[in-house]
Amino acid sequence: MGLFGIPAAMKSRTSSPLATLPPSNGADRDLPTPRLDLDPGRVADRVRELQRVLPGTAIRYAVKANPHRAVLDVVAALGGGFDVAGATEAAAARASGVDSDALIHSNPVSSRSQLEQVHEHGVRLFVVDSAPEIVKLAGIAPEARVLIRLITSGAGSDWPLSRKFGCAPDDALMLLKSVADHGLDAAGIAFHVGSQQHNPHAWEEPLTIAAQVFSDARRLGLEPSTVDLGGGFPADHEGGAPPLQEYGRAIRAALTKAFGRRHPDTLIEPGRGIVGDAGVLESAVIGVANRGGRRWVYLDVGVYSGLVETLGEAIRYRITTSKDGGPTGPCVVAGPTCDSADVMYERTPVELPLDLAEGDLVRFHSAGAYTTCYSTVGFNGFDPLPTRLVNAEFRPQP
Ligand SMILES: Cc1ncc(COP(=O)(O)O)c(C=O)c1O
Repeated sequence: MGLFGIPAAMKSRTSSPLATLPPSNGADRDLPTPRLDLDPGRVADRVRELQRVLPGTAIRYAVKANPHRAVLDVVAALGGGFDVAGATEAAAARASGVDSDALIHSNPVSSRSQLEQVHEHGVRLFVVDSAPEIVKLAGIAPEARVLIRLITSGAGSDWPLSRKFGCAPDDALMLLKSVADHGLDAAGIAFHVGSQQHNPHAWEEPLTIAAQVFSDARRLGLEPSTVDLGGGFPADHEGGAPPLQEYGRAIRAALTKAFGRRHPDTLIEPGRGIVGDAGVLESAVIGVANRGGRRWVYLDVGVYSGLVETLGEAIRYRITTSKDGGPTGPCVVAGPTCDSADVMYERTPVELPLDLAEGDLVRFHSAGAYTTCYSTVGFNGFDPLPTRLVNAEFRPQP
C-alpha cells in the first residue's frame, strides 16, 4: 500500500492516453504558453452528473477551485449555488445572479471584517468549528444558520484537509448547543473527506458521527436539519478514480445507514470534481539538462505559476507532449523560477519522450482546479497563469 492506503500500483506515473479534452496541437502552437484552456461545456457536464448521482442534494460549487466568471455562470444557470471562502468570492458568486440563500461560507476561522462583508453580501449559512467563532458570528450575523465542521482523517485522498480545521466528534454537540445558546440556528454538521478522494466510502464514518450528533442534539431540544458533505469528488488525474456514480451510490447508502429513510437536507461543495476536468494547462519546454545522470526537463510553468498542488507530488496530473509517440525515458519535471522548491515531479519521475527539447509543448490534463487562482502574482517576475476559454460561446440549457 502507498500513501494514505492507496495501492502503490494506482499511484504509478505513466503518460496515459487521454479520455478527456482533445489536446490542442499543431494549429495552436503559436498560442502563448503557459495558459489554461478552460471549457465551460465540461463544467456543465460535471454539474449535471453530480445532480444525477446525488438527486436532492444541493450543489454549492467551491469557488476557490476556479473563480472564473464562465464557471460561475454555468453553475448558476444549472441551479447550483456557491461555497465561498470570503468576501471577494461572495461578491463573485452574487454577480452570477444567484440568491443569497444559495451561498454558504465554509471558512471556519475568519476575520471580523471578512465575516461582516460576507454577511453584507447576504450569506446566512456559515460553517465554524470553534467556540470563539460562534461568539464572533453572533455579533455580526445574528440570524445565521450554523454548521459545525467535524474533523476527518483525509484517508484515501491525495490532498487531505485533516489538520487545520474540524472539531473532534465529542466537541460537536457542545458547539451546536453553544450556537443555539447564542441565539443562532444550530443547523447541523459539515465535513470534508479530503480532496481527490479515491474512496467513495470515505463519507460513511463522518456520516455515522453526524447522525449520532443529530440524535444527541435532539435530546437537548435542538433541531439540526442539514449535513454538508463537502467536496472530495475526483478529477481524472493520473492513476484514475472511481466514476461519480459510485460516489453517489456509496453516499446515498451511507446516508440511509446513518440516518434511516428520513435523511437530513444535504449539500455538497465540489470544486475539483466540477472544474478539474474542464481545463488543460499547456506549457512549453524551456530547457533540458543532465544532472547527476538524471534528465531534468524545465517548463515555463511551475509550482509558483499554477502547479502548487504538485507540492509533495500530491496531485499527479496526466501529462502528454507534442512529441508523444516515440521512445520515452524517466525525467524530473521542474518549473522556470530559480527557487529550488520549484520542482513538480522528482521522487516519482515522469516518462517523457527522449527527444523532448526546447519549444516542445507539455500538457497537464484535468488541470482546471486549483491552478490559475493558486499562482503567485509575480514571483521571480513570472505572471500568474492566464485562462483562455475554449468553447467560449457555450451556454448551458437549464
Ligand atoms: C471547505 C471546503 N469545501 C470544499 C472544498 C472543495 O474541495 P474539492 O475541490 O475537493 O471538491 C474545499 C477545498 O479546499 C474546502 O476547503
